[in-house]
Amino acid sequence: MNPLRAVKGMNDVLPGESARWQRIEGAFARVMALHSFREVRTPFVEPTPLFMRTLGEATDIVEKEMYSFVHHDEPLTLRPEGTAGAARAYVQHAVNNREPVSRWYYMGPMFRAERPQRGRYRQFSQAGAEIFGDPGPACDAEMIDMLVGFFHDIGIADSRVEINSLGTPGTRDKYKEALVAYLTPKMEALSDESRQRLEVNPLRILDSKNPRDVEVVKGAPTIQGSLDADDIAHFKGVCRCLDALGTQYKVEPRLVRGLDYYTRTLFEIKGATDKLGAGDTLVGGGRYDRMIAELGGPSVPAIGFAAGLERLLIASETAPEGQKVDAFVATLGEAAAPYALTLARDLRRAGLTCEVDARKSSLKAQLRRANSAGARFALIVGDVEVAEGCVQVKDLAAQSQEKLSRRDAVASVAARVGRDGTSKPPDGPPKELS
Ligand code: HAM
Repeated sequence: MNPLRAVKGMNDVLPGESARWQRIEGAFARVMALHSFREVRTPFVEPTPLFMRTLGEATDIVEKEMYSFVHHDEPLTLRPEGTAGAARAYVQHAVNNREPVSRWYYMGPMFRAERPQRGRYRQFSQAGAEIFGDPGPACDAEMIDMLVGFFHDIGIADSRVEINSLGTPGTRDKYKEALVAYLTPKMEALSDESRQRLEVNPLRILDSKNPRDVEVVKGAPTIQGSLDADDIAHFKGVCRCLDALGTQYKVEPRLVRGLDYYTRTLFEIKGATDKLGAGDTLVGGGRYDRMIAELGGPSVPAIGFAAGLERLLIASETAPEGQKVDAFVATLGEAAAPYALTLARDLRRAGLTCEVDARKSSLKAQLRRANSAGARFALIVGDVEVAEGCVQVKDLAAQSQEKLSRRDAVASVAARVGRDGTSKPPDGPPKELS
């Protein structure tokens, strides 16, 4: 029988790797707290029409990347991103009645049936945030600056911010017309895919990486020429705040992004191109001032972003961490296991990490395991130690060994790894064992 493997594009994160994930997730949660964002958790499965209505039917995600299925006549989809679900929850719970501004963040898996490659997966994790109720432009700049700071925290020093404004849907329609008027006579020079997009979603042609399209698009009009006075004032406001913060950015007039819900401010942050190649977009985000009303809620402006955690891990590449426990309890003989368990509990109560080996293997094998678990101390217990209520404490670095009472053993290990014992483990063997 063939061994079963994980689904293509969906990866296991083994314990050596998960420590790196936790570090980045922890750093993100800290940044979020500093900026007064609170965590929201929405379901992984949402009604399919939610994504069709918000992301747009002619987007790559909705057209070909969603994991959709019908369950008891209900069309459902594994969430391909987090914004639509957060907005649905915001409307469903009438959150606007409770507070004028809501700052939410989330971390978790998203699902897109894309062609897997480095930095692009079918199940991937996003760390994202959304602000509901603030029309900007100050919060738009705060968000971008916050991300640059976060990248710095996790060791990505070369991030590059690109920003643009898409204006209102009216602006976009006006721009679409100008773009179609420019591209139609040049249709033959476009790729097949872009020729099809010309009718359904011409803005996406600006995003194409196909060299034929890139060449044609070079001379295309930019959306900046179609923005109205309010859009321009908003965009200038974002730039002014970024300038005041000293955050470097580049205005990229052809930045459009692949989702239909955006209005006004749009941004991407790229980095670690040497490691990620063309898929070097670490973060995508922007304003979507119409979505809440379109989902049946009040007219509430919104802005957000999402970062791909796998990409951040690649970009901030550091060595995977080995295991590290403070103490390893090795056992010899029948009576040792229960004694070792209570000793380990005392050690943990003193704030020490520890592992117990009760496999009935040789001392040599157990000490080998202690070394591979990264233990600083091995605490050895056999029949004699159980009878006397004591422990052999072996310093694996110094290769020294001493026999101590249980209480002294815990206190000595705690002191030597720099943690002060907070509990008072009993001296002598525990009652049930004596
Ligand atoms: P997005 O640009 O589709 O935007 O995705 C944001 C980020 O998720 C990307 O920049 C990338 O780092 C990561 N990402 C996307 N697809 C994959 C994949 N297949 N494999 C690995 N990483 C991936 C959104 O999702 C919007 N919801 C962002 C947003 C929030 N806009 C407003 N609020």
